[in-house]
Amino acid sequence: MHDFFHSYNEYLTEFEAYLASYVKKLQTKPEILGESMQYSLLNGGKRIRPVLMLACADVLGLEKAEVLPFALALEMIHTYSLVHDDLPAMDDDDFRRGKPSNHKAFGEANAILAGDALLNEAYAICFKESLKGEKYVRASQFLNECAGVYGMIAGQSADLYYSEKQAEDPEEALHYIHACKCGKLLLAPIAMVSILADNRYYYPLEQFGKLFGLLFQMTDDILDVTGNFDSMGKKVQKDEGKNKLTYVRLYGLENAKVRADMCATDCRAILESIDEDTSFLRNMVDYVLARQN
Ligand code: IPE
Ligand code: IPE
Ligand code: MG
Ligand code: MG
Ligand code: MG
Repeated sequence: MHDFFHSYNEYLTEFEAYLASYVKKLQTKPEILGESMQYSLLNGGKRIRPVLMLACADVLGLEKAEVLPFALALEMIHTYSLVHDDLPAMDDDDFRRGKPSNHKAFGEANAILAGDALLNEAYAICFKESLKGEKYVRASQFLNECAGVYGMIAGQSADLYYSEKQAEDPEEALHYIHACKCGKLLLAPIAMVSILADNRYYYPLEQFGKLFGLLFQMTDDILDVTGNFDSMGKKVQKDEGKNKLTYVRLYGLENAKVRADMCATDCRAILESIDEDTSFLRNMVDYVLARQN
């Protein structure tokens, strides 16, 4: 795993430099708008989505410069989703990435606007990229689908809905919530790179992305029970009190872990079918399965 963390850090550094150059140019009036955007953007998440994009670019032999703008757009959308997810009207979380949530630092109204602004900036980047040609338009469309009414937002809506109403088919509801609220924004980086690489390995990468997204939310649910504030940077033991439909709630902790293991096995099997060096992605699966933050 030493090589894996080394490569992870290289991808991370490359992304952080690109993000810093964006932030340097960001000038808003009033300044507080940009400050609250920066507060959440520069707040040191794991950056797993941009890292995945850069890693997939290497797998498919694509220049990093081709994917970096989309990696930034995606991280902006992810960040906005967290800012809104933490609001009192949603999960009501006071901490994120080890620091007070955006609304705790800037107030609710500014947090809502920071989220709105990040979303708009993300699509501004996509529009600019789209001028380069059709595949950039298709990558942008894919991101939009993953983030929107049929993606993350649908998942967030279902997450809230089923915390108040008993699902007729709880397994189906759980799968829908997780595949959308978390899964789609992890499918996006993988599938978008394939689109930018003229659809190379699209089918296996799409399957991999879907399963990897599920795995990620399974471990998030498990860590809500087994994790701690210091490593997670957010409060744990929150899902039960909020009556969330999670893997742990539906299957119990031990079974949720078994399911995560099985999902990881499926992820690895799909990677076997790709005739390129996918060792980083395989290690990423192991990393997510064992993650503590
Ligand atoms: C948290 O995402 C929300 C989920 C989708 C489970 P991450 O765990 O990727 O959060 P950061 O970006 O590293 O803070
Ligand atoms: C959030 O899921 C997913 C999105 C923000 C879209 P959670 O509500 O489980 O994420 P955490 O646990 O607050 O990070
Ligand atoms: Mg939530
Ligand atoms: Mg939450
Ligand atoms: Mg959670």
